[in-house]
Amino acid sequence: MNVAARMARLGTESAFEVLARAKALERAGREIVHLEIGEPDFDTPAHIKEAAKRALDAGATHYGPSAGLPELREAIAKHVAETRGVPVSPDEVVVTPGAKPIMFFTILALVGEGDEVVYPNPGFPIYESVISFVGGVPVPIPLLEARGFGFDLDLFERRVSERTRLIIVNSPENPTGGVLDRGQLERIAAVAAARGIPVLADEIYRQFLYEGEFVSITGFPGMRERTILLDGFSKFSRST
Ligand SMILES: Cc1ncc(COP(=O)(O)O)c(C=O)c1O
Repeated sequence: MNVAARMARLGTESAFEVLARAKALERAGREIVHLEIGEPDFDTPAHIKEAAKRALDAGATHYGPSAGLPELREAIAKHVAETRGVPVSPDEVVVTPGAKPIMFFTILALVGEGDEVVYPNPGFPIYESVISFVGGVPVPIPLLEARGFGFDLDLFERRVSERTRLIIVNSPENPTGGVLDRGQLERIAAVAAARGIPVLADEIYRQFLYEGEFVSITGFPGMRERTILLDGFSKFSRST
């Protein structure tokens, strides 16, 4: 079968490759401490499993609304408004199977052939993969250990160009654990707002912050309307 040329530009989530190798070693009797996949090391809590079973028994086995169940979108809007301190209405919420489709939809919708996307590197591999897949130009911002894995803001400002169509921000960051503080986010937001560039704010590790305050870029002037906020249920189980 001949696949389209763009398939050669598609990368993969390398953590799953490492997981497959780790599982193979486990099957061969080796003891493995799993650090590769970002997910809780305990099962989904019983009350959530029970609710899912009840829903199936109650007939939730048919097509639903494509943007998600209205009750769920309402609950998410309320949660995001409370945790980020910005007003959010349910019709601004889209529910997808996992958070990765949001990266794909955002990049597909905003980035054309030759358009540039500024993103953290090392970073979640799917950013770069999808930018290349759609024919965009990945413009990495190196995250250096010497700088606490934060954005080099001077470099960031130099890398944003007339062709930048999207800025990706991930804080707390995968894989470095680096966190952007209020001042850094404010400066990124100021650049995005001044130039009218949308931001994909990947906040899926928001609850993996063990000191300091979590700051969302959505709260800065001009950012509510140009931020696509990505969050999900695969990383944590607390409701705060
Ligand atoms: C930074 C980051 N964003 C988004 C995702 C995607 O989450 P999901 O597995 O729910 O699609 C992950 C998953 O590991 C991630 O590490």
